[in-house]
Amino acid sequence: MSGHPGVVVHHDAVDACRQLAAEIAAGIRQRAAEGKRLVLGLATGSTPIPLYGELIRLHREEGLSFANVVTFNLDEYQGLPADHEQSYHTFMRRRFFSQVDLPLHQAHLPGSMVAAEELQSHCAAYEEAIEDAGGIDLQILGIGRSGHIGFNEPPSSVDTVTRLVSLDPITRRDAADLFGGLDQVPMKAITMGVGTILRSRRIALLAWGEGKASIIARALRESPSDDCPATHLHHHPNVTFILDVAASSQLNGSQ
Ligand code: PGA
Repeated sequence: MSGHPGVVVHHDAVDACRQLAAEIAAGIRQRAAEGKRLVLGLATGSTPIPLYGELIRLHREEGLSFANVVTFNLDEYQGLPADHEQSYHTFMRRRFFSQVDLPLHQAHLPGSMVAAEELQSHCAAYEEAIEDAGGIDLQILGIGRSGHIGFNEPPSSVDTVTRLVSLDPITRRDAADLFGGLDQVPMKAITMGVGTILRSRRIALLAWGEGKASIIARALRESPSDDCPATHLHHHPNVTFILDVAASSQLNGSQ
């Protein structure tokens, strides 16, 4: 094991995201000054919304440019057209890409309707594109109540790579409202693997609210195991859990 994740508790999500966005902005500007690109791993779901909000504000009000940023999203549902209301392509376009100056050819997501016979090459190409970009500098993660990171549902081993996965019943139930019913939620997704995530140079896992308190306590307390994939983050030397007070409420101050 390379050490234990760092834990930072903020008053609220907005506060937390202001600080993380400032770190990202500093990274972008430093790379730009060197004539290089910053490679960001991005997440979807409700958790990173305030982070995108703050990055957009920095772009609009403080002139932060994303021209030298390359992005790779963690995952995408399978079986939805890319322009479906609930696809992660749509999420990213609405919440971030359309509101900043990131060149769209520098933004990557797994395909949403990959044919069975193309799955293997599609997933391999995604891994290769990350490598070709020089690897991910900073990977943003949420955490699911199943213990997933990306869509690496239990059981997911430490050496998994980008692949097709089946969604956990907990994950599908948590998405049911957004999709207008459980039967509308896709069964499958393509996700970066745990191994892919662990190759990032730095990882920030974000969690807000009471509903995440118990899985955050498990992710930090339990030994690494495939049954709670987020515990595999203990293997990484530079990971920070960025929490609000409510999400940290089952840590009993001992972290
Ligand atoms: P959420 O999802 O941000 O919508 O809570 C997090 C996740 O499933 O990783």
